[in-house]
Amino acid sequence: MRGLKGQKLTNISTKFAIETRELTKKYGDLIAVDKLNLTIDYGEVFGLLGPNGAGKTTIISMLCTIINPSSGNATVNGFDISRQSSNVRHSIGIVFQDPSIDDRLTGRENLQLHACLYDIPAELARKRIAEVLNLVGLEDRADSAMKTYSGGMRRRLELGRGLLHHPKVLFLDEPTLGLDPQTREHLWAYIENLARTTEITIVITTHYMEEADQLCNRVAIIDYGKIKVVDTPDNLKAALKGDVITITTAQPEKLATRLAELKLPPHIDSSRHTIRLAVANAEKLIPKLIKVAAEIGVEVSSVSVHHPTLNDVFLHYTGREMRAEEAESPLKKFMMMGRQRR
Ligand SMILES: Nc1ncnc2c1ncn2[C@@H]1O[C@H](COP(=O)(O)OP(=O)(O)O)[C@@H](O)[C@H]1O
Ligand SMILES: [Mg+2]
Repeated sequence: MRGLKGQKLTNISTKFAIETRELTKKYGDLIAVDKLNLTIDYGEVFGLLGPNGAGKTTIISMLCTIINPSSGNATVNGFDISRQSSNVRHSIGIVFQDPSIDDRLTGRENLQLHACLYDIPAELARKRIAEVLNLVGLEDRADSAMKTYSGGMRRRLELGRGLLHHPKVLFLDEPTLGLDPQTREHLWAYIENLARTTEITIVITTHYMEEADQLCNRVAIIDYGKIKVVDTPDNLKAALKGDVITITTAQPEKLATRLAELKLPPHIDSSRHTIRLAVANAEKLIPKLIKVAAEIGVEVSSVSVHHPTLNDVFLHYTGREMRAEEAESPLKKFMMMGRQRR
């Protein structure tokens, strides 16, 4: 088998947990993933961020060998996703947004079933099940039927299940979508703990920017199947170089005119009661602005400063706000197909 440029694919580097080369998925005329080149190091928590339909699930589905690429290639844990799919599957764990847990079984039984599917010997399975139950904090409820579990507990059990066979790479597709904020933060804590205490590589897609900011050491912003930018959340925020100062006053126009005369930063917009300025260092400028306002008799009722967030970064690169409720999951379909194939 040969890659796009005709090179042999046997020598693909195993230096990276994940390496994609011109990875592409087309559905008819639609290019869901467009010549993706990406490397993810071992031990990274890597975030794929993008609006609904950007191609995140499709990327993960190809890397998990649930669907085949149209062209290009990738390795996961050094294994070729097309030619060594069975090795890939054994070295990964997957937690998808759709529940895929049998409600009639207990938590422990669900884990036993999974251990069976992965041919983990009984004695080892017992040990691993105890281990993951401890990790996700479900020891007390392990023998209760799944139907008595809350949404957050289910997700934790799924996370535990995804870890049972000690995967090198864990894929989490919107793992906290639809969970309430408190449960979401609980789950983050488990994921953070996992990243800190093991050498696992985690690839996560999320609609929650603060989640990506907190968990990921690097993120890729994806739009229309292409990578817009890859970097650490801190670098991405710093690159925007912009604090935004919002001044509330009854006379925004008068103040804006005076600021322009003084060649102070131009305001980016003003409404009936506010004026907003994009500046490099808000804290330094604020005393000056207040002084100018006082000099021309403009009363300022409030001043606030906004430092760039990952959401601003997202907006900058995609022109869109991230909205969690837009996320959907065509993956369920894929999962069902995958199960029928087994
Ligand atoms: N089985 C499929 N058939 C046709 N189009 C698909 C299929 N799966 C996904 N797509 C399309 O591919 C694009 C990327 O989808 P997806 O990877 O699910 O995006 P995301 O996970 O970022 O929301 C979307 O335009 C979606 O409609
Ligand atoms: Mg998706």
